Amino acid sequence: MITEIQQTAEVAGYLWEKGWAERNGGNITVNITESIDPDTKSLPPIAGPFPIGKTLPRLKGCFFYCKGTQKRMRDLARAPMANGSIIRICDDCSSYEIIAENPVKPTSELPSHLAVHDYLLSKGSPYRASLHTHPIELVALTHSRKWMEKDAATRMLWSMIPETKAFCPRGLGMVPYLLPSGVELAEATIKAIDDDYDVVMWEKHGVFAVDTDIMSAFDQVDVLNKAAQIYIAARNMGFEPDGMTDAQMQELTDVFGLPK
Ligand code: 13P
Ligand code: ZN
Repeated sequence: MITEIQQTAEVAGYLWEKGWAERNGGNITVNITESIDPDTKSLPPIAGPFPIGKTLPRLKGCFFYCKGTQKRMRDLARAPMANGSIIRICDDCSSYEIIAENPVKPTSELPSHLAVHDYLLSKGSPYRASLHTHPIELVALTHSRKWMEKDAATRMLWSMIPETKAFCPRGLGMVPYLLPSGVELAEATIKAIDDDYDVVMWEKHGVFAVDTDIMSAFDQVDVLNKAAQIYIAARNMGFEPDGMTDAQMQELTDVFGLPK
């Protein structure tokens, strides 16, 4: 099994252990076009074609490993090819076929995932993995208008512990509530990522993160959620945490050459 799929299974296990993956919650897709061998690439379709709901010109002939819709992360961790599948984007750029290993229908959030992969390729980005998950504390933040304001949550989370800014250096974008799995959500997610974020919140739903590989996407969400937990721990001790100062955070940007 290729490394990207093994890594996806490992991350799926972490999502379950963290309590972020109730039932079938969350999904993962990885652009594996550059990693799969010619034999797999030439496999005949076992299901499809199915419409994506969008035309994505840069994905023509690309291959993705996708979590299956209604499949559980805790099951995918043990058996990635029974709870996910490899798809190929058809020449019309608006439909896909399942090529391996079982006819497992991809996640209902496929429009958002594929639209974001198309966007990333258009930018020449090295990012190949996208993760949607339901991290408890980060989702709780989005139930407050205060934290939905642009960069309010970013500033608070970065100020909890230096590592947050160092390892999630673009911060946390915010996408106002939209119906799960729709094309509108896909458009809004791209708009938010294009505003220069690797990680964006879907209000009252979950997080969507992109990075070079799925472990790195998971790490960005993990450091952000840790910061949210520190904020909550301080509030539970009865005080509003001071947070690092603006000068301390600027020092991090200067010393580590961070983008913001
Ligand atoms: P799927 O089971 O279709 O991947 O959906 C899970 C989810 O989190 C939808 O937002
Ligand atoms: Zn979800």
